[in-house]
Amino acid sequence: MTLRRLVLAAALALPFASFAQAPIVIKFSHVVAPDTPKGKGAQRFKELAEQKTGGKVKVELYPNSQLYKDKEEMEALQLGSVQMLAPSLAKFGPLGVKEFEVFDLPFLFKDTDSFRAVTDGQLGADLFKKLEPKGIKGLAYWDNGFHIMSANKPLHNVADFKGMKMRIQSSKVLDAQMRALGAIPQVMAFSELYQALQTGVVDGTEGVPSNFYTQKIFEVQKHMTMSNHGHLAYAVIVNKKFWDGLPADIRTQLEAAIKESTTYANAIASTENGRALEGIKASGRVTIYTPTPAEINEWKKALMPVHKEMESRVGKTTIEAAYKAAG
Ligand code: LMR
Repeated sequence: MTLRRLVLAAALALPFASFAQAPIVIKFSHVVAPDTPKGKGAQRFKELAEQKTGGKVKVELYPNSQLYKDKEEMEALQLGSVQMLAPSLAKFGPLGVKEFEVFDLPFLFKDTDSFRAVTDGQLGADLFKKLEPKGIKGLAYWDNGFHIMSANKPLHNVADFKGMKMRIQSSKVLDAQMRALGAIPQVMAFSELYQALQTGVVDGTEGVPSNFYTQKIFEVQKHMTMSNHGHLAYAVIVNKKFWDGLPADIRTQLEAAIKESTTYANAIASTENGRALEGIKASGRVTIYTPTPAEINEWKKALMPVHKEMESRVGKTTIEAAYKAAG
């Protein structure tokens, strides 16, 4: 080959070579702070995905609702504007997959193992299958522990909830739960919570310590009750078309990255929430109350009828499968 031809061939090959090297970008959007179990899980996934694919995949993290709020991020995933999310299991109702709300039934899980038995078993897999017609694929469940309650007054007895405006995630089971306590539920995006509490749009909320701490909820709420009445967890989900269209070797590497980051996220949830609770205590701004067994029994008496009431929404078979797995 003459030099001229060589130069020409190299010039022709160049655009293709640089095209081939352009990384596949995964935009991973979520609504919480980076310094939370979900934020850290997402960071770990990014590191593992980029490392395992040798840089062929680049993961861009968008925490704190900086790209989309709760409802918008689901739509963005379906449209392919982002490729990955990890919404709370309480946020799938508006998508039309109401069965996920089984996870919101009050006092369903006695501990983390009981929750994990449901997600790791048949029900967890069946629920993910229900996402596929929506163009979404479920990859993993990430735990974030138990809900506590907050307000500007002590919430010890059921009567204390009467007429309280309580922010909830977009789950009809959570709506029924707050009503059963005598409160007035209000669905609101997570990103709006701080201001809504500050301005009195709502009086209180349920949530986990890692979110209460990183969103500085302790600045706008004087009382928290360690009720552990509900549970918060996430589904790591991807746009199905994007995922199915990945080269097989890359998908396998990403599956491994998901597996490892899931083990990590689940392992840190409890300690991270414990640490956050210490941070809230250290702020000196909140009175933290642990209910007595008698008080918890009173909550249970008010809340357990929600299970029956929600059969028509969530499905009796789903609820029974959850009971069986949760033990
Ligand atoms: C909430 O909206 O309270 C939670 O789902 C936020 C989160 O993702 O932890």
